[in-house]
Amino acid sequence: MKSFKIEHDFKFNYKFLIGAIVPRPIAWVSTLNIDGTDNLAPFSFFTAISANPMIIAFSPMIRSSDGKKKDTVINIEREKEFVINFVSEELIERVNLTSTEVDYGHNEFSMANLTAIKSEMVKCHRVKESPIHFECKLRDILNYGDHVGAGRLITGEVLMVHTREDVMDESGYFKSKNWHPVGRGAGNDWHLSNNIREVERLMKAQIQK
Ligand SMILES: Cc1cc2nc3c(=O)[nH]c(=O)nc-3n(C[C@H](O)[C@H](O)[C@H](O)COP(=O)(O)O)c2cc1C
Repeated sequence: MKSFKIEHDFKFNYKFLIGAIVPRPIAWVSTLNIDGTDNLAPFSFFTAISANPMIIAFSPMIRSSDGKKKDTVINIEREKEFVINFVSEELIERVNLTSTEVDYGHNEFSMANLTAIKSEMVKCHRVKESPIHFECKLRDILNYGDHVGAGRLITGEVLMVHTREDVMDESGYFKSKNWHPVGRGAGNDWHLSNNIREVERLMKAQIQK
């Protein structure tokens, strides 16, 4: 086995995080810029935290190119709300495009040929082409520093969810085979979900024979 003691080395640590923690779900986060235009960016340091209340979390780091906070953070600190749009396979290239560093206020919806639709409980828009949307209200921002690579854990309470018609069946069961979720991998890898294996959850009685 290869072993490494972890030091404060952004590039080394980042490589390990994105190499080992795979596949990562992607939060495609839409927020409102100060001038009312839309901002959209993907974050794969993303997970669910609590079912009731329904809380999710994602983590934008301090930008490595200029040592500044990402626009998503600036917008959430001010507006206290955001939308998580989920990513299906057909959207990979457009998600990637919206991760490009563009000037603050540049509309990433039009840049990536995406349609902004109104949300019901927050002011920021949703991505029409995305199959699932979570409208969120900011709960916490945990700050791990102001230097390059330092993350901020942003948690949000989900106020409202939207799904495309074919995402769930009549009983509310999610049909991943219909919406093709993707995950982010090491380096430039993206994981597809076209090879899903179903394993029945076991009851205690089945393993204690
Ligand atoms: C699939 C994908 C996942 C990403 N995940 C993260 C992440 O978890 N944290 C982060 O700080 N940046 C992440 N990035 C980079 C941001 O999307 C990028 O810095 C973006 O320009 C931030 O935009 P903003 O300044 O509008 O917030 C990711 C990029 C891609 C393509």
